[in-house]
Amino acid sequence: MTDDVKILAIETSCDETAAAVSQNGLNILSSIVASQVDWHRKYGGVVPEIASRKHMEFIEPVVEEALNEAKVELKDLDAVAATYGPGLVGSLLVGLSYGKSLAYALHKPFIGVNHIAGHIYANFISKKNIKTPVICLTVSGGHTDLLYFKGYGEYQIMGRTKDDAAGEAFDKIARYLGLGYPGGPIIEKKAKKGHEDAINFPRPFLNKDNYDFSFSGLKTAVINYIHKKTQKGNELNIYDIAASFQRAVIDILTEKTVKAALDKKVKTVILSGGVAANKRFREVLKKRLNQYKVPLYYPELKLCTDNAAMISTVAYYQYLKDDFAELNLNADPNLKL
Ligand code: KG4
Ligand code: ZN
Repeated sequence: MTDDVKILAIETSCDETAAAVSQNGLNILSSIVASQVDWHRKYGGVVPEIASRKHMEFIEPVVEEALNEAKVELKDLDAVAATYGPGLVGSLLVGLSYGKSLAYALHKPFIGVNHIAGHIYANFISKKNIKTPVICLTVSGGHTDLLYFKGYGEYQIMGRTKDDAAGEAFDKIARYLGLGYPGGPIIEKKAKKGHEDAINFPRPFLNKDNYDFSFSGLKTAVINYIHKKTQKGNELNIYDIAASFQRAVIDILTEKTVKAALDKKVKTVILSGGVAANKRFREVLKKRLNQYKVPLYYPELKLCTDNAAMISTVAYYQYLKDDFAELNLNADPNLKL
């Protein structure tokens, strides 16, 4: 039966414990996310050991809440899915083991899902009729991937970061400035009060004739700037630093994405991952793509950051292709698309 498929999906690749139930892929019956950010904030980033422990604590109630909210009983499920990579191995193992055990106990098929595929599919939940092929930019705390996406399982990686991910750069600069974690939303807020052109930070790889990214040089330039100013006893304008840094990241992401869209002559560009939540980025990229009449879509905010709804949608497409996993599937922290 493929006309009413209910899938329970579990996502524990980083620091959010999430479970969701979908019906026929795009109809999300429930999506529960328990964030651990309060436990990691004081360390300025995710502590893997704490993340795994919190996942163990949260997984049971989160799955129960997802089933209750969806008004679905375990026996009604057609399959159980879980993210098996990429991510923190200890975190991945909690959700994956839980999902596999549940599938085994229920005698239901198990589906292993790639987290990055999840981020891409979040777009199709938010907007139901996106026509492929598209250019997809996935920008999160661990990834900066530019993809030519033709359909499920048909991706061509056009470029990716050679060092830090875009979100990682936001997090590191925020930590350096003592602003807290996660850095992206905090920098975005500070940037609103600053001038984007106040400081001319470098835009590495911007003029290189490829689709790769590099953010580590930009991060170093910002840190050097702060260091020099402080050494001279000058006051720091956090707002201008945040705005100018953010704009440098935005320019790099925007120009590479526009170039890819024009080269591949696609009709649509989609965004995914936590950095796609950045309103200024959406605004700048949208305006640039508008010049070429290429529309930009991005998932609603709660689907940009880690969640299990996006995992359940990918799982549905795998279900249709009988793409099930054996129960000895292991976590793969470096899983590629
Ligand atoms: O996709 P995600 O929730 O988790 C990963 O798979 O990494 O992305 C988290 C990343 C963090 O680095 C966070 O700082 C960044 O996305 N982020 C943002 C914003 N919201 C989250 N970066 C820039 N602007 C934002 N508004
Ligand atoms: Zn993610």
